[in-house]
Amino acid sequence: MSALRHTLSVDLGARSYPIYIGRGLLDADLLRAHVPSRQVLLVTNDTVAPLYLQRLQASLGDLQVAHCILPDGEQYKTLETLNRIFDVLLQKRFDRGCTLIALGGGVVGDITGFAAASYQRGVHFIQVPTTLLAQVDSSVGGKTGVNHPLGKNMIGAFYQPRCVLIDTDSLNTLDDRQLSAGLAEVIKYGLINDAEFFAWLEQNHQLLRQRDADALAFAIHRSCADKAAVVAADERESGQRALLNLGHTFGHAIETGMGYGAWLHGEAVAAGMCMAAQMSLRLGWFDAVELQRLLALTAACGLPTWAPAQLGAERMLELMAVDKKVLAGKLRLVLLKGIGQALVSADFAAEALQDTLNRGLSQA
Ligand code: NAD
Ligand code: GLY
Repeated sequence: MSALRHTLSVDLGARSYPIYIGRGLLDADLLRAHVPSRQVLLVTNDTVAPLYLQRLQASLGDLQVAHCILPDGEQYKTLETLNRIFDVLLQKRFDRGCTLIALGGGVVGDITGFAAASYQRGVHFIQVPTTLLAQVDSSVGGKTGVNHPLGKNMIGAFYQPRCVLIDTDSLNTLDDRQLSAGLAEVIKYGLINDAEFFAWLEQNHQLLRQRDADALAFAIHRSCADKAAVVAADERESGQRALLNLGHTFGHAIETGMGYGAWLHGEAVAAGMCMAAQMSLRLGWFDAVELQRLLALTAACGLPTWAPAQLGAERMLELMAVDKKVLAGKLRLVLLKGIGQALVSADFAAEALQDTLNRGLSQA
């Protein structure tokens, strides 16, 4: 029994694609219509495969479907793991008309997308995200890639999928910590440019944590709609798309500094957004009442509000310098003028960042 609730579109001219959101979509025949080839490689990991691989494969009917099951974890988001996908594609003689389908969270989606972007200079790609974080963020917008030991997501490509299929029922098998990590990216949309959504989250976070189907469907739809609008306006991040990185410069430093996988991406982003807000307060741009609202919502979603003290301010600064938003040696940060009003700026006193880190990390 499937219930398609919403279809959104990411408007990119000839490369526009739909986002389907609903219950039971893994079993529906919706996906089949978006696969333009007979050869299909389903890429997933060893946690998700026993849960959903067979069902997704069954929905593809008589296509020639192979699979590649990767080890689970952020620490495997590497060039070595990427090569395992190429091994299967080449061993099975997949041609340049084939389709790669990513079934899993953001790690599987990012690696598979990069494999699709680079195998024979580009093959078809479809996203079937199964974590909240992947459903509200990583599956939409075409950022793909892998980590390098010196920096997160430093190797990759922009490469859009042909469609995104979101079965909200898949969240029922996700553990509470991962659900919370996804909520960090949901909060992010409210903070960036959707104050009304932020207020809705303040009222409804408990329902989301209890996995109320209607509340989740609403939050996923609103998040995808917010992201799709930004991506349509600035696909390659030459302007406003950088706002989607709110909290990420701090967050990526935490993930790299703690060792990939120790802190979940969403946890690091949550702490990073709170630190960006603290810094914005220090600059006189953000007000204390709004900061308290953010800290309260973040904590209520089971998320950290500070980086781990063990990293230290100096190490954080060193790690933050390896960021894709660094231009001509100058660090740019996404900061806040209010809830729903983010901006990218390099126009801040270095002490504001240093003081924020010193104070924040001493309280962690
Ligand atoms: P993840 O992919 O590691 O998934 C989290 C965990 O949940 C894994 O153990 C996974 O196996 C498991 N899992 C997945 N679906 C499940 C299900 N339905 N039931 C039970 N377990 C399930 O992590 P994530 O939070 O989904 O994604 C984080 C990654 O996404 C990071 O690498 C981050 O850099 C990337 N990211 C990319 C973008 C982008 O625009 N491309 C945006 C945000 C984040
Ligand atoms: N997650 C940031 C982006 O997609 O641009």
